[in-house]
Amino acid sequence: MHLLINTGGGDAPGLNAVIRAVTLSAIRRGFRVTGIRRGYSGLLEGESGLLRLNRDIVRGIIDRGGTILGTVNRGQPFEYPVHGADGAVTVTDLSDRMMDAFRALGADGLIALGGDGSLRIAARFREKGMPVIVVPKTIDNDLGGTEATFGFDSAMSFATDAITRLHSTAEAHGRVMVVELMGRYAGWLALHAGLAGAAHAILIPELDFDWDVLCAALVHRRDTGRPFAVVVVAEGAKPGGAARVVVRQETSKEPTLGGIGALVAERIAERTGFETRSLVLGHLQRGGPPTPTDRLLSLRYGAEAVRLAAAGQWGRMVSWQPPRMTSITLDEALAKTHAVPADDDAIATARDFGVCLGDA
Ligand code: F6P
Repeated sequence: MHLLINTGGGDAPGLNAVIRAVTLSAIRRGFRVTGIRRGYSGLLEGESGLLRLNRDIVRGIIDRGGTILGTVNRGQPFEYPVHGADGAVTVTDLSDRMMDAFRALGADGLIALGGDGSLRIAARFREKGMPVIVVPKTIDNDLGGTEATFGFDSAMSFATDAITRLHSTAEAHGRVMVVELMGRYAGWLALHAGLAGAAHAILIPELDFDWDVLCAALVHRRDTGRPFAVVVVAEGAKPGGAARVVVRQETSKEPTLGGIGALVAERIAERTGFETRSLVLGHLQRGGPPTPTDRLLSLRYGAEAVRLAAAGQWGRMVSWQPPRMTSITLDEALAKTHAVPADDDAIATARDFGVCLGDA
């Protein structure tokens, strides 16, 4: 059997650990594995777009962030923006050319490591006849159909550490420190890191916040002898009735969220008189080595993906349903979203401690 593997969307700690697991499991079965560089782009770049994987190449990568295959999170194959000499952008469908390249390689199937965008692309390639298996990756943890995506725990651990470090400086200066986390439209990262980092207020996309509620909580802290606070804001959080704050909107791409943290810090200062500072953890959350939890999850995901391929179980997403590693169909995976539900236990726990979630 000849397996292809690629990594798509934003990078996440654990991608290399999955590549290692797939390669080693495949080689043990006598299969060949070829990596496609930069998502699907490498399919159109001849031999330079491919990386023939073997034991030597995957040695020592279990704890490396990023991906040895490279990744892209813009220009998906079905709507690829081609820039003309006149500066005009034409959206082109490259998928048929990529299917031809896939067939020319004589591959039996593709193991695609990615988030929701990659899942949608894989499902469309499957319709065109490409056998695919998806391994769910994202620091946002916003994929339904699996209990956890790899990358989330590493990002959450890093963010928790950063939030913890803000307490002493917030207290020393009597300030409100506002920290903006990633997560897109899901609040998992902010909620879990905020709770674990003992933040005083946590604003997530699933709960629109109210400026009065947020500011009243901070003033109450000051009035009761705690004149400082750490506020965690998910990049997708927004006040009720307002739009999400967006950094940029490119063609054929989701808007890039960002900027809500600075706005929150500014408004708190105006409304409460607190001195505030804001910071954005940004791509630091995606860098660095995977945590042991993410390494283990990645290895198990990779091994299961090869088991599925060996059994001819294509068109599926590997799914962690503790204590079992299993799989669901791509359609099932696509049908599920994974936002923080209103009755989530972490939300209830935050409320029990008096952590302000900004909602009325
Ligand atoms: O999906 C992962 C993620 O890091 C999101 O949390 C964030 O909104 C987005 O990617 C940032 O994308 P980019 O790398 O294009 O800035």
